[in-house]
Amino acid sequence: MKKKYKFLFLKLRDFFLITFLSFFFYFPKELNASETDLGKRIFKNNCAGCHINGGNIIRRSKNLKISSLKRNGIDNAKDIAEIARQGIGIMGGYKDELGDNGDQIVADWVWEQAQKAWIQE
Ligand code: HEC
Repeated sequence: MKKKYKFLFLKLRDFFLITFLSFFFYFPKELNASETDLGKRIFKNNCAGCHINGGNIIRRSKNLKISSLKRNGIDNAKDIAEIARQGIGIMGGYKDELGDNGDQIVADWVWEQAQKAWIQE
């Protein structure tokens, strides 16, 4: 009888331990995921029209792939945020559409996609 309760207690303890641990491991990932989703959404709404899959339908050579970015001296997310806000060359800026942090969030997402060669969405 006693043994049975002890067994049950251990099961319960494990259950709580796992719940507790997964909360800690899972929660920050969730937050990250939502920022990534937001970046992706902002990109779809404001940039993908011309930069579908990281390309450029107007000026092919000025795309969002790492080789093109580097060639044009863009080598961090901050530079991309500035372009998103203020535009560059014949591309206009999207400051009003992007809102408070949108430029940075979309730039982080674009930079991340560039690192992954735009192959993992
Ligand atoms: C209406 C079409 C259009 C939209 C929408 C657009 N772009 Fe562009 N983008 C361009 C064109 C055209 C260029 C090349 C500009 C030039 O150098 O004359 C460019 C260039 C860029 C570059 C520089 C790329 C390089 O390799 O030099 C970045 C970065 C960029 N765009 C990011 C964005 C982001 C982020 C958004 C969304 C907020 C966006 N663009 C929306 C047309 C667009």
